[in-house]
Amino acid sequence: MSDSIALWRAEHANFATLLDLLERQLDLFHKGEKPDYELMLDIMFYMTHYPDVLHHPKEDLACARIKERDVNARPIVDELTEQHARLKDCGDALVRALDDIVNGSITAREHVEVPGRAYVADFRSHMLHEETAILPLAAKLLRDRDWAAIDAAIRHIDDPLFGKNGEERYAALRRQIARDARPSKAITR
Ligand SMILES: [Fe+2]
Ligand SMILES: [Fe+2]
Repeated sequence: MSDSIALWRAEHANFATLLDLLERQLDLFHKGEKPDYELMLDIMFYMTHYPDVLHHPKEDLACARIKERDVNARPIVDELTEQHARLKDCGDALVRALDDIVNGSITAREHVEVPGRAYVADFRSHMLHEETAILPLAAKLLRDRDWAAIDAAIRHIDDPLFGKNGEERYAALRRQIARDARPSKAITR
């Protein structure tokens, strides 16, 4: 597997971790508990500042090359590209709503629960679609020189949450992810 495909999958795994975390916060509404809105905002801020800024634009470039080489891939590529735009709009709207809640200018639940759940479901299904329909095609049709051209065409940014030099604004989110990943969590005595 090329490094680019491995990175693509690894990023999906990171996003899936965040979607699980976001969903657990949304579940708290049903237990009558208050979710951690700041954590939710950190998650959505990341989703709109890394996947939307680097991961999806890079996929769009990869998909454009796939489409040129396999006409049968056109409908699915077009659909995934449209989904990128929709996910970005929904993600931006959630950031605004969560920002308003954290800053105290609106009250909660209805502004985030339904759109939050829709975002989680849409993002998961989008990734599944890519993994089943596009990644195998990318592995088959794209060569190292394609990935080099894609990387050269995109403005690279380091992953501000999972990357080596993680940004300070995600420190609390990183701690939460580390707590969730701790194996001792599963041990009950
Ligand atoms: Fe995508
Ligand atoms: Fe993706």
